[in-house]
Amino acid sequence: MRNLVQKYNVPGPRYTSYPTVPYWDLDTFSGQDWKNSVRESFKETNEKEGISLYIHLPFCESLCTFCGCHKRITKRHEVENPYISHVLKEWDLYCNLFPNKPKIKELHLGGGTPTFFSPENLGRLIKGIFKRAERAEGYEFSFEGHPNNTTKEHLQTLFDLGFRRVSYGVQDYNEKVQKAIHRIQPFENVQKVTQWAREIGYTSVSHDIIFGLPFQNVADVAHTILKTKELKPDRLAFYSYAHVPWLKGNGQRGYQDADLPTAEEKRIQYEKGKELLVEVGYSEIGMDHFAVTGDSLYKAMEKGSLHRNFMGYTASKTQLMLGLGVSAISDSWSGFAQNVKSLEEYGHLVDNNIIPIYRGHMLSEEDKIIRKHILNIMCTFKTNWGKEPEILGELPLIKEKLKELSLDGLVSLSDTGVSVTEKGRPFVRNIAMAFDLLLHRKEPNTRLFSMTI
Ligand SMILES: C[S@@+](CC[C@H](N)C(=O)[O-])C[C@H]1O[C@@H](n2cnc3c(N)ncnc32)[C@H](O)[C@@H]1O
Ligand code: SF4
Repeated sequence: MRNLVQKYNVPGPRYTSYPTVPYWDLDTFSGQDWKNSVRESFKETNEKEGISLYIHLPFCESLCTFCGCHKRITKRHEVENPYISHVLKEWDLYCNLFPNKPKIKELHLGGGTPTFFSPENLGRLIKGIFKRAERAEGYEFSFEGHPNNTTKEHLQTLFDLGFRRVSYGVQDYNEKVQKAIHRIQPFENVQKVTQWAREIGYTSVSHDIIFGLPFQNVADVAHTILKTKELKPDRLAFYSYAHVPWLKGNGQRGYQDADLPTAEEKRIQYEKGKELLVEVGYSEIGMDHFAVTGDSLYKAMEKGSLHRNFMGYTASKTQLMLGLGVSAISDSWSGFAQNVKSLEEYGHLVDNNIIPIYRGHMLSEEDKIIRKHILNIMCTFKTNWGKEPEILGELPLIKEKLKELSLDGLVSLSDTGVSVTEKGRPFVRNIAMAFDLLLHRKEPNTRLFSMTI
């Protein structure tokens, strides 16, 4: 196994989209194409399945040094109201494209820290969204709460507006790790917010934990999971720490590379973590995700209907997913677009009635075929290509990569498809990479992705 880890621990995408963001073809993308593709997608699907909305709420009061998310650190809560006004204005710009009211199937508040905002302001945001939209049948609304600042009022306000899922950032319960990542967060805080959510009636509580953090060892991971077991979250994200200091400005610099576990130590942490999670009653859903058997993600996995997008794994697929707020990414199924990252520019653009995107990509026929296989691998751990003429020309290249993975026992390969073996599961990113024709054609010449292990 050690050799495999050495061999496959390479920079690689997490495939929340294909093509991955660095491979978007910016030259053939235009704002007009984007608006057309959103309109088309809306017409095709709003009545049938509804749309998904992701709202990025970027503020945090203090910087966790491991964090890879797009955020702005501030203690000035005066920023809340103008930001909400801008998000609602952006929503108006999209709604103006549609002939009738959007039906929202999935709504997710992510960050940054949504609970940085007061309950009252979050209420204003959601009510503002529904002035121009309605709830789709079977809707699922969720938000990310920080255990140190989520209040009962936050939970109650959002519950009253239809939210039934909350996820809390836990990361690790050991003091030395918490100190290193500048996030002191006692177990009691997580316990309190988890219990409140249940008392209020949330049907799904999820915790995020991470392995591979600075100074973390396998005993710390085990300790964190055993503490987690006491609170029995319905879902668990068990993330591999993504070390991308070249992307993250002032973050990820509070410790040295030498303070991080090696790739081999990380793999052992993952294996031990997974073993314990299974022992205490969780099932692996897809890359990084675990759930109890009653949970909708688990049921979707069983039914083979699991989907993956910029929000991660979801139980129900909508073709159109709009991302509002700074840095948010939208997906119309035939194209992607990303919003500007600077708060100032974002505000300026929406004030001038401009949908605040700055880059995007329209998918080619080949992209769509590759996306299908990568989604299959990420969501079901297998895929079949049958007699697809479109990629046959490139199939030898993909097959050559898969053959090597097969010789290492990570996949089992037939003439018409491939499935990931038990041994191959920790390497699922590497297996998806075998299909990534854009990556094969042009290896990046700078560091773009975190390491796969
Ligand atoms: C926006 S935060 C969650 C909400 C809130 N801000 C908090 O920290 O509790 C989203 C999650 O992304 C994960 N995350 C952030 N940076 C990461 C990194 N570098 N590697 C792996 N996971 C990361 C963490 O587990 C974190 O809980
Ligand atoms: S982990 Fe959460 S609270 Fe910490 S900096 Fe990142 S987004 Fe903010």
